[in-house]
Amino acid sequence: MSVYFNLECQQCPRLAQHLKQIRVTHPDYFAKPVPPFGDPHARLVIVGLAPGMHGANRTGRPFTGDHAGILLYETLYRFGFSTQAVAEHVDDGLILKNCRITNAVKCLPPENKPTTDEINMCNQYLAAELINAVPHDAVIVALGTVAHNAVLAGFKLKKSSYPFAHAAQHKLPSGQWLIDSYHCSRYNTQTRRLTTEMFHAVFATAKHLLD
Ligand code: URA
Repeated sequence: MSVYFNLECQQCPRLAQHLKQIRVTHPDYFAKPVPPFGDPHARLVIVGLAPGMHGANRTGRPFTGDHAGILLYETLYRFGFSTQAVAEHVDDGLILKNCRITNAVKCLPPENKPTTDEINMCNQYLAAELINAVPHDAVIVALGTVAHNAVLAGFKLKKSSYPFAHAAQHKLPSGQWLIDSYHCSRYNTQTRRLTTEMFHAVFATAKHLLD
């Protein structure tokens, strides 16, 4: 049976070792593979890169408690996909509405940079999620090129047929729309490579395609 997620996964030695170390230096941190958040059959699926050190890796929920989550959760709330605009910790009561957030890589990578082997290894989980749970009329928003390529790999599609571009809309053979966005990282938002308006426009498109 295809497994979407394994909390005990140790298949990437470098990542498993990194998390083991963090459990010693930060005993109060989650420091395990971070599970996807929200209904697996939701029609809006957000795919991020990987847990952030002091965000998802600390709290155990994607984009929760770190800078990248500020714009994402505010936007999801604004467009009616969540019950709260702010995500601080797993017990904050936030419920996603017809929305799921998952990551291309489930474990915190050193320096936020997973290796190609780690991205490929972890793709078994994303692929299982995309193929077995995500509805054919879903909209998938990929945050950044790693997420975009991981979605294509999950569906066994060629990268050259679906080039990444901010706000690009790709119709996938299985029916879903894939929309690209620059990642809502601190770097991208502070340099204004990704503005709030640009990010809101991506979700306006997603909402339009879902309706
Ligand atoms: N937190 C996540 O869960 N994913 C990202 O891509 C960034 C921060």
